[in-house]
Amino acid sequence: MSLKDKNILLGVAGGIAAYKVVQVARDLTVAGARVHVMMTPGATRFITPLTFQSLTRYPVHTEVWEYWTQEAQGHISLAREADLALIAPATADILARLALGLADDIITTTMLGLPPGVPVLLAPAMETHMYEHPATRQHLQTLVERGAQVIEPGYGNLASGAVGTGRMADPAQLVSAVRLAFGRMGGDLHGKRLIITAGGTQENIDPVRYIGNRSSGQMGYALAEEALARGAEVTLISGPVKLAPPFGCNFVGITSTLQLEQAVHQALENPAAKADVLIMAAAVADFRPASPSEQKIKKDGSGQAPNIELVLNPDILAGLKGRPGLGGLLKVGFAAETEDLTFNAEKKLQSKDLDLIVANDAVTSIGQPDNEVTLIERSGMITNLERSPKRVVAGAILDKVVEILAKR
Ligand code: C5P
Repeated sequence: MSLKDKNILLGVAGGIAAYKVVQVARDLTVAGARVHVMMTPGATRFITPLTFQSLTRYPVHTEVWEYWTQEAQGHISLAREADLALIAPATADILARLALGLADDIITTTMLGLPPGVPVLLAPAMETHMYEHPATRQHLQTLVERGAQVIEPGYGNLASGAVGTGRMADPAQLVSAVRLAFGRMGGDLHGKRLIITAGGTQENIDPVRYIGNRSSGQMGYALAEEALARGAEVTLISGPVKLAPPFGCNFVGITSTLQLEQAVHQALENPAAKADVLIMAAAVADFRPASPSEQKIKKDGSGQAPNIELVLNPDILAGLKGRPGLGGLLKVGFAAETEDLTFNAEKKLQSKDLDLIVANDAVTSIGQPDNEVTLIERSGMITNLERSPKRVVAGAILDKVVEILAKR
């Protein structure tokens, strides 16, 4: 869902992670949101209000005692007009004050006045012992019981030099969490369950070598991000890639094609969460070594290279044909071709019994940040899309998915 013209309250408390929130304010603004920053006195010691004001182009609020005008009534209008509130970094202190319902600064006062139903996101950041202290745990629990969503801090280097849990989530994750919250409020995939596969598989030759491909996972991850932003519940099944799983997805890491097949079957057979859509964006290895060596294969001195016998991997998509219990599942496949793109893709759509196939040039798409694709539907309808960033392509693919789902 677009962030355009959404009023986002960004409460910045006094923690060093405030420097990372500058990027969040910037990214949300670039995405079209109106970002209204509120800062505690502590926060202004780390970052100046001018920094946020320059990036968001809105006044930054640091005081409850502001002059009210016809248009702006300080914390009252801030709270009344908010579509979402994000507190980042959420320090132990502000969590305690929010949980107690204090109104002793601009953030806590405004948050008390927030109309019911406005999503509240909290991005804690603090030292491990503070985060794990029973008081902090209890305050967080209270806030969650009242409906707040916590963007969990990660494990890593903390400002003190220690290593532990308490490191604020990355700016990109905070932005994804905001998009997800809006998606859950009326995105066009709200209530739909998507299984998306991404990245390439690796087929072991021996413990250190494998047969792989150049897939970076960018297309599948962009689809997952975009689907989450439209309100879908997403299970992302991914081969080894250098990307962080999008915030809010159910992540399943796999390595080989056989593991991918098992993970897809498991996700499809989850009785508690029947999938509506399967998008196979993963670049699956068609062959694997018949019997991977348990030890590293050595040169044997014969002057001959070893012969590695290959066997066919199962075709996961084609294998779903006629599988019981999948009635109504919308299946989307990819066809990366080096010749006769449309012809070959249409053939694949039929042989794999797909509702939609995304055809692209294998050489100019794999591992690249952008993609030029042709969408071919079961009905024979063909849509050519111009070369665009994978996130834009993902949006167009999901538009089609929404369209096909609506026709059912
Ligand atoms: O046959 P080809 O590999 O070109 O088909 C591509 C599509 O089929 C992709 O959507 C890919 O994820 C899926 N696939 C599969 N199982 C395989 C190979 C590909 O499901 N073994």
